[in-house]
Amino acid sequence: MWDALFINAEIATMRAGGAPYGLISDGAVGVKGGAIAFVGPMRDLGADIGDVARNVHDVGGDLITPGLIDCHTHLVWAGERSGEFEVRLLGTSYEDIAAAGGGIMATVAATREASEEALFDAAMTRLQDFLAEGVTTIEIKSGYGLDIEPELKILRVARALEDEDNIRVRTTFLGAHALPPAFDDRDAYIDFVCNEMLPAAHDEGLVDAVDGFCETIGFSPDQIERVFEKAAALDLPVKLHAEQLSDQGGARLAANYGALSADHLEYLAAKDAAALAEAGTVAVLLPGAYYYLRETQKPPVAAMRKAGVNMAVATDCNPGTSPTTSVLLAMNMACTFFDLTAEEALAGVTRNAAKALGLDDCGVIDVGKRADLAIWDARRPAELVASVGQNPLLARLFGGALCP
Ligand code: NIG
Ligand code: FE
Repeated sequence: MWDALFINAEIATMRAGGAPYGLISDGAVGVKGGAIAFVGPMRDLGADIGDVARNVHDVGGDLITPGLIDCHTHLVWAGERSGEFEVRLLGTSYEDIAAAGGGIMATVAATREASEEALFDAAMTRLQDFLAEGVTTIEIKSGYGLDIEPELKILRVARALEDEDNIRVRTTFLGAHALPPAFDDRDAYIDFVCNEMLPAAHDEGLVDAVDGFCETIGFSPDQIERVFEKAAALDLPVKLHAEQLSDQGGARLAANYGALSADHLEYLAAKDAAALAEAGTVAVLLPGAYYYLRETQKPPVAAMRKAGVNMAVATDCNPGTSPTTSVLLAMNMACTFFDLTAEEALAGVTRNAAKALGLDDCGVIDVGKRADLAIWDARRPAELVASVGQNPLLARLFGGALCP
């Protein structure tokens, strides 16, 4: 039998291929040993639920979804960049700020200065917002250290967050994020990333995936390719910040390397959608960064949909281009700005977000999957997507345990 049973629920299982949202009305979810042991209509439960009577939760028609997954964040940083926001309002571009030594480098300077404890506290405060919105898995990138010790510090903090709270953390090494001041040669820095930083982080067991920033103000496809080669040699999956500000061919490169995801993609050429689909590389849409940079170029969502690309949605939580901690807001923006359907937006923070992290034990409600669930004060899944700045979460289940 079950450790706990949730009855009278509207269940958006997010299983692909069936009803919209994989919806089960008048449904029940049974949980045992941290996994889902039953999901289906109430009528399939049978009469014998007596021995879990104390752990039967009647949710009274409320909505249950998979726990949400934010598959792209830069959660661990110090400092703040409101001054850049002010000058961008007056017309200075994100690239101009980077060229003048601000932008990512401003956050790198503050993050290097900060102690591990201070970074942990700041990140933990942000993490609470994610938990409050029903997030059960979060990806966290390094990339604000850009030297061995500070990169390891960020990744250690990311791992420590997982130890401390009811959340699953996937860490991504983003050493190839920007050129630090100690280097004036991008190729020499990439050598350092490949030969020293990434191996050091990997040796400590701190890396679940490897990312890079393929951009004029970041690194060229050739330089990123060297990072991908090193990742492959270490048997680590790759991801890429691609086509955020210009079309560098980064998404094609990512697809060639079987990347888990290519992220941003505002400047992706429609014809390149096919390469992502073929490789099974998830397109991670980051509407918060599009909004905050007041970008006008939109990712080619219709072409990606037509090509059969799996699309995820994430916050990109970071101090420079997307200072938000709200997955629900990102879902809404993915619809209003990028024309996703409400169902695509919810799949983007559940089923497809799991794929973008290479996880196959979460993101849908199905027997055998982790019992990571969110219970909402809502009757229809679209309610989660349609609101702006509201949070109807009632409860979060992590590995079968009801979290406070
Ligand atoms: O995903 N594009 C590169 N990296 C981050 C922004 C980092 C920053 O500006 O601090 C992003 O948008
Ligand atoms: Fe990012």
